[in-house]
Amino acid sequence: MSSCKFYLSFENSIYKDYISEKLFNPLTLGAVPVVIGPPRDNYEEFVPADSFIHVDDFKTPQEMAEYLTLLDKNQTLYEQYFNWRKEYIAESSYFGLEHACRICQYIRSYTGYRVFKNLNQWYFG
Ligand SMILES: *[C@@H]1O[C@H](CO)[C@@H](O)[C@H](O)[C@H]1NC(C)=O
Repeated sequence: MSSCKFYLSFENSIYKDYISEKLFNPLTLGAVPVVIGPPRDNYEEFVPADSFIHVDDFKTPQEMAEYLTLLDKNQTLYEQYFNWRKEYIAESSYFGLEHACRICQYIRSYTGYRVFKNLNQWYFG
């Protein structure tokens, strides 16, 4: 992925906040993500606006293809998609382990929790 200029980050479903490793992997590895997913403003809640290309930024696939071709030919324009690296660092999360640890911290600090010994019984009654 790091040898590619662009990476097609097309999510399997289009839902608010459904933004997966398909976005974060190219950002970590140095490719510019071209995204299909929730609207641009939802992506911008998670990553800088100038770190990715959204297909909704274009009227037609051809218009997008022409823009990607332009970026491919003009290094100055292409490198604008890496300006965010002056202020941020992209770190990969090892199989979501960091998030799993956050869940444990949350459960420990959240006192309203209950213990279910049988999930099937709890869920299905
Ligand atoms: C690349 O794009 C920049 C910014 O639009 C422009 O100033 C420059 O002339 C372009 N370079 C080439 C080689 O077209």
